[in-house]
Amino acid sequence: MAANWKMNLSLDEARDLLNGIKSAKIDFNKVEVLVAPPFTTLQLANELLAGTDILIAGQNMHWGSKGAFTGEISPLMLKEAGCSHVILGHSERRALFFETSETVNQKADAAIEAGLIPIVCIGETLKEREEKKTFDVIRTQLNKSLKTSCKLGNLPQSVILAYEPVWAIGTGKTATPEVAQEVHLFIRRWLIENFDHNTGETIRILYGGSVKPDNIKELMLQPDIDGALIGGASLKTDSFLSITKF
Ligand code: PGA
Repeated sequence: MAANWKMNLSLDEARDLLNGIKSAKIDFNKVEVLVAPPFTTLQLANELLAGTDILIAGQNMHWGSKGAFTGEISPLMLKEAGCSHVILGHSERRALFFETSETVNQKADAAIEAGLIPIVCIGETLKEREEKKTFDVIRTQLNKSLKTSCKLGNLPQSVILAYEPVWAIGTGKTATPEVAQEVHLFIRRWLIENFDHNTGETIRILYGGSVKPDNIKELMLQPDIDGALIGGASLKTDSFLSITKF
């Protein structure tokens, strides 16, 4: 269960939320929990979560190791700040900051190279869904965002994919479990076709888009939904914890 805080929470608010999650009784044999705070909160998260099983992710990253890239952050910097994971290609980055699948591919390669686990996001817009292009869009995003690994034929099984239909993010409109499952199965089959059965079965595919305490259970009952990337509902201790206990 991955909490994507986006550009939210002051340091004080973050401290309260992190302490709330930390002191809860989460069964880490059953669920893996990850928080993705803004960059300036990573250090605090790293300090507060030290010695716990709660994982930390960056929300974005540059593919270079260092240099003249004003405003960017490198894989090593994320690692030093305590991150084991990094979210890449979130639809907000694609739509608002013009990130392409080609740059997501460069970032995914750099993350893997640096020993960070990428959480690669894909998803169609409402227009694309209405025009019945969902599977074409997903296939193209997967082919391009994981192009190098596809070519090399070796995608680490630790890589995580997140299916987030753009029309369901922050809108209160969750994909029905059946609609989400259909796309997750498509992604699973793509993985099996491009890699091998084992990779396809092992790689985790998260669902994201208006996940809430009252819909998580049904989503998690679907055979190809392995977890969730949660935005709005991850900002309150009670709702996030109740999601982790689906
Ligand atoms: P949401 O965001 O849960 O607020 O819809 C999910 C996401 O964008 O990762």
